[in-house]
Amino acid sequence: CGLASAAPTPAPTSTLDAVLERGVLRVGFDAGYQPFEMTNKQGQYIGFDVDLAKMVAKEMGVKVEFVNTAWDGIIPALLTNKFDVIMGGMTVTPQRNLRVNFADPYIVVGQTIVLRKDKAGEIKSFQDLNDPKYKIAVKLGTTGEQAVKRLIPKATLLQFETQDDAKLEVINGKVDAFVYDLPYNAIFASQNQGAVVHLDKPFTFEPLAWAIRKGDQDTLNWFNNYLRQIKGDGSYDRLYKKWFES
Ligand code: ARG
Repeated sequence: CGLASAAPTPAPTSTLDAVLERGVLRVGFDAGYQPFEMTNKQGQYIGFDVDLAKMVAKEMGVKVEFVNTAWDGIIPALLTNKFDVIMGGMTVTPQRNLRVNFADPYIVVGQTIVLRKDKAGEIKSFQDLNDPKYKIAVKLGTTGEQAVKRLIPKATLLQFETQDDAKLEVINGKVDAFVYDLPYNAIFASQNQGAVVHLDKPFTFEPLAWAIRKGDQDTLNWFNNYLRQIKGDGSYDRLYKKWFES
């Protein structure tokens, strides 16, 4: 009837509404980034982000589905709706923020250096690596890659698709150093004490946050209020202790 055409057009559906309707929260990440997202021996995803994602889904009353995605393509994958949110330890950078929205940071980290053990005497900081004779491994598309390009520009940069490949190069002595987020490097170094040393003072400032498509205030509002709640009620601290202090 004539009245229907006068009805207001419905507001655009938010990701949050789409998730509730679907009954599934689809979370994008790139597994292997310890202790945030790893695969255990049974092939299940575990880690800090995995637990957080499960808590979020539970609170929303939906199931969670993890979509493992190569890091250097993870923003395009979000923008083409392969999943609803990136929960993968993504550093908030001004450049990324031109393309996505970030919820409030859930943790702050920084880049550190894992060195070949035999270089420990001559290299004490990132500045000491700023020479073409030093080879530095990074993971493609990470802030580690950006930090080396920006702050250690003279070093020889080697990019790897996975952090495991980059890590092996240092262990095998093919490169001098690996630059990556502190929590990853702390575990890496402690598990390979015979081969590497950790220069564990972060030389960048990196808040990590969940990323969603732009212009979605409903979803952002839910995530930010949820984060404030779990930071205040002890559940965030319990999770933090489980993954970072055990
Ligand atoms: N924080 C770094 C970045 O934003 C590394 C994150 C890597 N995350 C992952 N799930 N592999 O570039």
